[in-house]
Amino acid sequence: MEHTLPALPFAIDALAPHYSQETLEFHHGKHHNAYVVNLNNLQKGTEFEAMDLESIVKKAPAGGIYNNAAQVWNHTFFWNSLKPGGGGAPTGAVAKGIDAAFGSFENFKKEFANAAMTQFGSGWAWLVADKGQLKLVKTPNAETPLTTGQTALLTVDVWEHAYYLDYQNRRADFVAAVIDKLLNWEFANANLARAG
Ligand SMILES: [Fe+2]
Repeated sequence: MEHTLPALPFAIDALAPHYSQETLEFHHGKHHNAYVVNLNNLQKGTEFEAMDLESIVKKAPAGGIYNNAAQVWNHTFFWNSLKPGGGGAPTGAVAKGIDAAFGSFENFKKEFANAAMTQFGSGWAWLVADKGQLKLVKTPNAETPLTTGQTALLTVDVWEHAYYLDYQNRRADFVAAVIDKLLNWEFANANLARAG
């Protein structure tokens, strides 16, 4: 199937000043779009042409098709992990899961920021559900919990392209802004509900 760039789930200027329109024009309009274009080109004439995106991510071997498909999926998941007026304390079942796994929301924030900061080079930090337990995982490059049997609840993109225009080298400030101002806990709860 031909893959298309999904529209952002918010207006392109809606995350400012924490995440600017200019960053989204590049990150969504250029980087995310390039993964879509690359995937469509690379899958031509292969068995992956007949598959939906999740099937490609789960079945493709290491290489260009996997990298681009996983990055398409990861970025769409990242946009949905953010919302205008988000961040702060979680609600619902995710709040209970965070208290059970991390002791408190304050401690979770520290551990999430630490995961995002200690992913060396490009990658992602994720809150996942793993057999009913909430956990933090970090993945390099395009790697994604979609292939590990864990259910992704939220993610933050820590590739340099995710933050350089707004935060330059200050990854910690970017991650703090995401946690305090942008995380979409409704999305996390919907993902957790689907995990069962
Ligand atoms: Fe990115």
